[in-house]
Order: sequence, then structure tokens, then C-alpha cells
Amino acid sequence: MAQIIAEVSRTFNEFLLLPNRTRTDCSPATVDLRTPLSRHRVGERAAIELHAPFTSAIMQAVSSPELAIALARNGGLSFLHHNQPIEDQAAAVRQVKHFKAGFVTSDTNVRPEDTLGHLLGVMRRTGHSTAAVTHDGTATGRLLGLVTSRDFHPQRHDLAGSVAGRMTPVADLPHAPADTTLSEANARLWDERLDCLPLLDARGHLQHLVFRSDYSDNKRFPHQLVDPAKRLCVGAGINTHDYRERVPALLEAGVDALCFDSSDGYSDWQAEALAWVKENHPDVPTGGGNVVDGEAFAFLAEAGADFVKVGVGGGSICITRDQKGIGRGQASAVLDVAAARDAFLERTGEYVPICSDGGLVHDYHVALALAMGADFVMMGRYFARFDQAPGAKVPTREGFVKEYWGEGSNRARNWQRYGQGGQEMVFEEGVDGYVPYAGDLNEGLAVTTAKLRTTMVSCGSTTLPVFRSTARLTLVSDQSFEESHANVILRDTPATLA
Ligand code: IMP
Repeated sequence: MAQIIAEVSRTFNEFLLLPNRTRTDCSPATVDLRTPLSRHRVGERAAIELHAPFTSAIMQAVSSPELAIALARNGGLSFLHHNQPIEDQAAAVRQVKHFKAGFVTSDTNVRPEDTLGHLLGVMRRTGHSTAAVTHDGTATGRLLGLVTSRDFHPQRHDLAGSVAGRMTPVADLPHAPADTTLSEANARLWDERLDCLPLLDARGHLQHLVFRSDYSDNKRFPHQLVDPAKRLCVGAGINTHDYRERVPALLEAGVDALCFDSSDGYSDWQAEALAWVKENHPDVPTGGGNVVDGEAFAFLAEAGADFVKVGVGGGSICITRDQKGIGRGQASAVLDVAAARDAFLERTGEYVPICSDGGLVHDYHVALALAMGADFVMMGRYFARFDQAPGAKVPTREGFVKEYWGEGSNRARNWQRYGQGGQEMVFEEGVDGYVPYAGDLNEGLAVTTAKLRTTMVSCGSTTLPVFRSTARLTLVSDQSFEESHANVILRDTPATLA
């Protein structure tokens, strides 16, 4: 007869944190959100430590290079999705690794013979007012001049006239060599009162533009997650089918961490694939998952996983529980796996971080997941709402929404994640829909982070290990939720997004 687990499967919504004593040295500003990404021995540090406990889901609708750049600048890490050809995923990794804060690859480019009307169209499309004029109209062509929206007026100048007639030619343009550092470039921008400094290689081809307006922007990101060469960090999802080809290509492109992406990671295939990666590429942190109990955690940790992702059936776009009857309440799953992680540490002296993946509905769920033992969280719906996510932004009567679709939906058809016995998915395990648009990731994540910091302060902790070892949680009844929303008629407010 089947074994019935006595404990009820619980969700984050069923818990609240109790405040602990807050000492005077404990304030949002003193909270340190660093957390290990990968396996390490007790007393040592992980090869990669996140500067904020956030990762973005391995999904087409979420982890694009743009989102990866924005998240790494805020101290977290994206795992670029693997539901694409190997060379495309490697190119996406390169795009993140080549990003240099303050060094902009020009996206508004024209040729000297193009008309001002054409230039105007390009500027409207990109939203930028400085265009590079290159011999072939590309971002890395030979620079012939710069033209800005201040150089011509659509009503005063003949839009059929050429760009060459209004541009500042390169001979009159301050520029600098390609290896100029950001501080050298900034010094010239201020000393020579420039708005923009083009950086050129030895052949006179454009490499980057440095803008004065980006100067203060760079100061906005003190917690950026960078590698020893100061390039932003990026992770990538992999699968148990083509890892022998995919992993070397991703490493060649400069990826910092990998994660096997499966809706059910408790399998011999994943153990074999992990063993292969650890044998052939022992230095790259490689996670496994997803699992929902201690037994499966121990299986993947023994197989070599550097971190383990927790969560089956809880994702916002997920219909696995309806389709297959498989899953576990995310709170129960995290609590069980965290206990297994601590037991593994006790037994082996090795700490294998765990990630709570999916099902975080409110900002405070992040704090609950971390209090229950997660070292970091992974979110899909949350990040899909921002400008930097790849889904289209669509107007509706109630405001803008962004597209968000599951990897198991017909739109994504990620058969590598949802093994159903072949290269075709027989049934869907995810839905295709929309989420409320939430603007810029930097602003949204700042609010979520501020809430996490103040929750930790209320719980008397300034680090995540102290937070989880001292947190006190209580189960709540439906009635206690009624209590906190008693009898007040709310003024009309915009829909809450988080
Ligand atoms: P969310 O943050 O609640 O939106 O959940 C995101 C997580 O759901 C991902 O990181 C995956 O683990 C999982 N997921 C992604 N696509 C699907 C799907 O189509 N069905 C079920 N789960 C999915």
C-alpha cells in the first residue's frame, strides 16, 4: 500500500514571521544580503556568492540577456534559458559577458548618405538622440561622425537632405582609444564638457560610446555581481539531453554557473549528467533539480550538485498538479529540503545551498522562503512583469500587461524539461498568459529588497544565515487574515502588482 506522509502540504500563505528583538545596530542599511550559490566546505566561502538572494527563472519569457544584465547589476543572477539552439544560448551568454557598465554599444546608427528622415525614424524607434554615422551604418563600422537631435530640426531642415550635411565629422570630434577606462572616459567627459565620447579601435572603427548621463547611473549599482575580470556574472540552464555539446559551448562563451532544468530532477538521468559535468568541468558551479523532499535532495547532492532547486507544481503558470497529480506545497518542500541540507552538512562537512523556485506570490514570500531555509529564490512571474523581460508589453482597458508563458505550455514546448517519453510533448504542463506590467526592474527590485531588509530587521537579523537560524514562524488561520483586513473601506488605489 502507498505510504501516506502524515504532514499536510503547506504553502507560504499559511505562515507569518514573529518579530524578534531588534538591537540598535540592526537597521536596513546594515543588512547584508550575500548568500552562497554553490557547494563549499564548512568554514570556506563559495566560489560564487550572490550579492542579493534573487535568481530569474530558466524560461523563455523571463531570462533574456537584457534581464540578466539588469539582475546582475542588482547583485542577483539570471539563468539564460536552454529552450533554444546551443549557439543562440552561447551568444546570449556572450552578450551579458561583453556588457561593460558605462560602455554602450551604439544602437542608433546610420550611414552618411542616409536621409535626415531616415535618421529621425531610427531615433524614434530606439528612443535615443545620439546617432553614430559609420561607413556601413553598423555599430562597429568606421566612424565618420556623430549626429544628435540637436543638429537638425524636422520642421526647419529638409528631411530629404543627407545625414552627412548635419553631422559633426570625426575630425572635429573628441574621441578616445578603445582601451580607455571608464574613469578616464568620465574625466574627459567632464573636463571637456562633452555629452558623449566615442571609443575607436586602431582602424578607426567604433567600439563603444560613453555618455555623461550614464556616469551617475553606474554609481546606482554598488552590489553588482561580477567575475574577477569585472564582467557581469550570468548563469545558464542546461538539460539532460544535449549537455555534452551544450556545456562546452556555454563555458567557451564565459558562463559562470549552470543549472540542470527539469520539472522532476529526482532521476538517474540527472545524476548521470551531473556526474559527467563534474568530471569534465569540475570548476563550474552546477545546480540540479527540481525536488521537493530530503531524499531527492540527498540523491542530487551525492551525485555532485553544487546547489539544488526546490519546487514542483507551485509555479504561477504551472498546471503539473492538475495534469499529473504531482507536487508539494512550497513551504513544506523548502522546510523538508532545508533539513536535509543541514543533515548533509553534518554528515559530510559540505554545505549545498538550496533555491526555492516558483510560487512566490507576494514580496513577503521571499522573506518566508529564506526564513524557512532557502539560500536564495528563483522567480518567473515576478521578473516577467518588468521592461527588461522579453515578453511583449500589451495595452488593455485596465492598463498594460506583459506576456508570460510556461516552459510546459504549447507556446514554449520545452520537451527537454518535461520528459514525456520523446521529443514531442503529449500534453501541456503550463499555461500561456499575461501578468500586470511593473515598469523598470531596478525600481521594482529595489522595493522588494527594501521590504526584505526591513523584515529581517524586525526579526533581529542582519545576515541571511542568522535570519534563518533565528526566525520564528507561526501557522495562521483564515480568521487571522480577516483580523488584519477588518472593516476599512479602501480608497480607490491602483492595482497592487506584487
Ligand atoms: P513563478 O515564479 O511562480 O512564475 O514560477 C516560475 C517557475 O515555474 C520556474 O522557475 C519553473 O520551475 C516553473 N515552470 C516554468 N514553466 C513551467 C510550466 O510550464 N509548468 C510548470 N512549471 C513551470
